[in-house]
Amino acid sequence: MAIVSSLSTKHLLGIKYITTEDIETIFQTANNFKEVLNRPVKKVPSLRDVTIANLFFENSTRTKMSFELAEKRLSADVINFSASSSSVKKGETLLDTVNNILSMKVDMIVMRHPAPGSAYYLSEHIDASIINAGDGTHEHPTQALLDAYSIQEKVGNIKGKKIVIVGDIKHSRVALSNIMCLNKLGAKVAVCGPPTLIPKNIETLGVKVFYQVKEALEWCDVANVLRIQLERQDIKYIPSLREYARYFGINKQLLESLSKKIVIMHPGPINRGVELSSDVADSDQSIILEQVENGVAVRMAILYLLAGNVSN
Ligand code: CP
Repeated sequence: MAIVSSLSTKHLLGIKYITTEDIETIFQTANNFKEVLNRPVKKVPSLRDVTIANLFFENSTRTKMSFELAEKRLSADVINFSASSSSVKKGETLLDTVNNILSMKVDMIVMRHPAPGSAYYLSEHIDASIINAGDGTHEHPTQALLDAYSIQEKVGNIKGKKIVIVGDIKHSRVALSNIMCLNKLGAKVAVCGPPTLIPKNIETLGVKVFYQVKEALEWCDVANVLRIQLERQDIKYIPSLREYARYFGINKQLLESLSKKIVIMHPGPINRGVELSSDVADSDQSIILEQVENGVAVRMAILYLLAGNVSN
């Protein structure tokens, strides 16, 4: 597969920095890779001789494995770095760590880091292409792209579709990237959660706000449900998880009380029994595992399109 088109940017730092045309190019390329992933031989030589370092300074299951698989399906050479077993523990700076890795002839960096803006900071100081795999509470662009791709696959053209993001909007990089991505694609976007977990002035991002989950679900075609990020909450924003589940948790009874059948999404990891009951997470209305499956094709597309910047 020859590289047919590249993106308007050398890095994927956030949805904020890419165009609607970039998103459409990523989706078209992901369609090709999805077809490849359904073949008996799932590997293509597109990134042969390209070396990619996956730097994870924060825990991950889906994103880390999805990137690694995408890179291997493209025949890239892959090295993995985890902060817990590295010399970062001895006080090395982020920039020194990355420059040392790049001096081993690494071409691209995929990075998850707890500090908002860390991927942008790196892009200002190094030459290699950087893909942001989640930076603190800021952005998670590949999650938003795979979410939008999965919505389009399920309900068709996103333009005009109503999508509500339910949960801990305040601490969620997924929420911010989703809002920007869906807005670029012409969706009608809303958020729903307790007032303490909805950032002030969020309407300025062009979203509607609901404080009652049933009202939000009646409005939408698709609900993307997020978990409560206790690890990012320095103070208590909700009285208890039990109370959150009672007022904002989505269960089968609630879904069946709606006047239409909506699509349920979740970026993972799920806290079963808190934001979603198991019978909803595992129901035919849920596309949670399709999101994970599409993540590999979407990440293959992003890596492939950005690899056009690698000089061999
Ligand atoms: N959705 C997501 O980013 O999951 P991980 O934290 O497991 O990568």
